[in-house]
Amino acid sequence: MFKTVLVAVDGSGHAANAVRCAGDIAKTYDATLVMLAVDGHRPLEAPLADLAKSEDLSRSEVFERILASARILAEVPKGVTVEQRVGYGDPADEILDEAGRSGADLIVVGSRGLGEYAELLLGSVSRKVLHLAKVPVLVAQAQGPV
Ligand SMILES: Nc1ncnc2c1ncn2[C@@H]1O[C@H](COP(=O)(O)OP(=O)(O)OP(=O)(O)O)[C@@H](O)[C@H]1O
Ligand SMILES: [Mg+2]
Repeated sequence: MFKTVLVAVDGSGHAANAVRCAGDIAKTYDATLVMLAVDGHRPLEAPLADLAKSEDLSRSEVFERILASARILAEVPKGVTVEQRVGYGDPADEILDEAGRSGADLIVVGSRGLGEYAELLLGSVSRKVLHLAKVPVLVAQAQGPV
């Protein structure tokens, strides 16, 4: 049913949980897993700024790192073809554009991300993707196993 699964990664545990779900689905359907992190051209959020500072990483290295970390943390199954991409611009717009470019037939996002408003059920990126996506969207809840 699914040939290409796009998962969006922002460095949060929620996103790692999204990668876990997406990896399992890709394995089940023998689909390609496209992992996308978007550099939003804003000051880096606190955990990413800390990472950049402590390891002396450039911004692009930070986004490469969060993709690599999520892939390991989420234990993407062996045998799944993975493509890691970094995008630039508005995160939701980039996720939607990448879905079109890569021909994704499923988009997976976390319900929340690195934002600080713990009372939100859905972050602004996941909400915008849900509203505008042309393909099914799976929203991984934070409570799942990370
Ligand atoms: N910069 C990004 N690059 C890739 N994916 C992202 C990015 N930001 C968010 N996402 C995706 O969207 C999901 C929800 O994050 P979102 O940013 O909507 O919530 P939040 O950070 O809690 O709230 P907000 O950013 O609105 O304050 C993340 O788990 C991730 O899948
Ligand atoms: Mg966010």
